[in-house]
Amino acid sequence: MSIKFENINYIYSPGTTMEKKGLDNISFELLDKSFIALIGHTGSGKSTLMQHFNALLKPSSGTIDIAGYHITLQTGNKNLKKLRKEVGLVFQFPETQLFENTVLEDVKFGPKNLGVSDKEAEIKAKKWLKQVGLPTDVISKSPFELSGGQMRRVAIAGVMVNEPQILCLDEPGAGLDPRAREEMMQIFVNYQKAGHTVILVTHNMDDVAKYADDVLVMEHGKLIKHDKPRKIFENKEWLKKHYLDEPTPSLFASSLTGFKFKENPLTIKELVDGIKKNVQGEFNE
Ligand SMILES: Nc1ncnc2c1ncn2[C@@H]1O[C@H](COP(=O)(O)OP(=O)(O)OP(=O)(O)O)[C@@H](O)[C@H]1O
Ligand SMILES: [Mg+2]
Repeated sequence: MSIKFENINYIYSPGTTMEKKGLDNISFELLDKSFIALIGHTGSGKSTLMQHFNALLKPSSGTIDIAGYHITLQTGNKNLKKLRKEVGLVFQFPETQLFENTVLEDVKFGPKNLGVSDKEAEIKAKKWLKQVGLPTDVISKSPFELSGGQMRRVAIAGVMVNEPQILCLDEPGAGLDPRAREEMMQIFVNYQKAGHTVILVTHNMDDVAKYADDVLVMEHGKLIKHDKPRKIFENKEWLKKHYLDEPTPSLFASSLTGFKFKENPLTIKELVDGIKKNVQGEFNE
C-alpha cells in the first residue's frame, strides 16, 4: 500500500487577513517501506506537509491515501486513532511536548491511550527507551531533569513505542552534536530496514545522500522535485539556484582539481573509491 497525495493545497487561517498558502498543489506517491527525505529551505512547507501524514492538518483541497485511510477536508477527527497509531509523527523540537511526571510515564502514555494494559505499556516503553539509547536510570526521572538530547530521545521513544507502520520525523537531529545525530540516524535506518516507512525532514544533505531512497524537495509550498538522491544532487547549478547544499563528498570532489569522477560521489565510500581510481590511473601511466 503506497502513500498517495493528490493535488494537496493547504491554507493557513483561510478567510482572514492572516490567510497564507502553506501547500500549493502537491502530488506524489511514495513506496511502502522506503526511506524518504523531505528537504527545502526554511519556510518552504516541510512541517506543514508532515502534519498532513497523520491528518493533524487536513488538506484545504485534494486527497490523501495513507495506511488505509482516505483523507480530505471533510475527514472528521473521529476514528483517526488507528491512523495515528499507524503513522507516528515526531514534531520539530519534540522535547517541548513532554508532559508526564516521569520519563517512563511519558513513553507509556501512547500505548495506554491505545488501550494497551499498564503492564504491557511498561514493557514496551522500557524496550523503546533502551532502543533510543537511554540508560535505565533515567526512566524514573522527570523528563525536565534530562539534557536536551536525552529529552529528544524520550520524545522519539514516545512515538516509536507504538511501532507505527510509517514514522515521520521533523528534523530529529536538529541541535544535536554530530555523534548523537549519527546514532539517532542509525535507529531510524534500522527501523526502516525492519520493514517500516521512514519520512525524514532534514537539512543534512549527507544523511539524504547516505540513506534516502527518494527525495521530496519543497520550495514556497510547492513540490519542486521528487527523485532519487543521485538525480537530485547531479545538477549543481540547479541546487545553487534553489539554495540547497551538496553532500560533503560531492563538494569535496568538486574541489579536487585534476581529478575525474565517473559519477558525482555522494558518500565517503564513493569519494574514496573515485580518488583511488584516479591515483591508480596515474600510477599506471
Ligand atoms: N500556524 C501557522 N499560521 C500561519 N502560517 C504558518 C503557520 N505555520 C507555518 N506557517 C507558514 O507556512 C509556511 C511554511 O511553514 P513550515 O513551518 O511548513 O516551513 P518549514 O519548511 O517546516 O520551515 P523550517 O525549515 O523553518 O522548519 C511559512 O511561510 C510559514 O510562515
Ligand atoms: Mg519545519
